[in-house]
Amino acid sequence: MLTLLDLELGIWVTLKNNERVLIRRFRRTDGDALYDFFINGLSEQSKRLYSLQPLDWSLVQVVVSEADAPQVLRLIALRGEQIIGYAYWRQQLFNPKIPIVSIAVADSHQGLGLGRALMELLIEGAQLKGMEGLELHVFKHNHRAVTLYRKLGFKIVGDTDNGRQWIMMLWFDPYER
Ligand SMILES: CC(C)(COP(=O)(O)OP(=O)(O)OC[C@H]1O[C@@H](n2cnc3c(N)ncnc32)[C@H](O)[C@@H]1OP(=O)(O)O)[C@@H](O)C(=O)NCCC(=O)NCCS
Repeated sequence: MLTLLDLELGIWVTLKNNERVLIRRFRRTDGDALYDFFINGLSEQSKRLYSLQPLDWSLVQVVVSEADAPQVLRLIALRGEQIIGYAYWRQQLFNPKIPIVSIAVADSHQGLGLGRALMELLIEGAQLKGMEGLELHVFKHNHRAVTLYRKLGFKIVGDTDNGRQWIMMLWFDPYER
């Protein structure tokens, strides 16, 4: 069974192309690699799908500053020293037991099962930390992402961003809703 220590130390996963990558919790020393991932790992299209805010050095500094914060679980997928996937959840002030999820996989590694692996570990990490579920927002035209989230059990509960994005929820106790 997975433990939070496993997430700190790292877990090896095998992708559909048989490449093995290490997934572990983001550390303070990972800032440069994260910046490189934002700048070189993601195409302009992926950036637009992923984030409404600029993926720049000031964002990386915020991420580094809260590397050890208990209200956030950030995971990175590594090929050697290079980050090829990044996913996290963050507790919301008004609904702390239902954190918000965010995820991006490098264009070079999309469609190989890495997104699913990162999401499954985020979900397990949330369960281990006593969360009740997860929420995410996704552009309606992002079919790959919506398919992934549906397969993991997320359900559409509404929309936001002037109707451009779905709000999707996963409740860990299926009898709760
Ligand atoms: C969305 C994203 C995180 C998915 O990660 P990924 O590693 O590419 O996805 P996976 O290979 O794990 O595929 C997951 C599922 O999606 C499905 N899928 C893959 N490619 C697909 C496509 N082009 N269209 C529809 N479904 C697709 C597969 O059936 C797969 O299911 P399986 O695990 O049962 O085989 C990744 O593509 C990405 O970062 N995209 C750009 C940024 C982004 O969109 N972020 C999400 C913002 S909400």
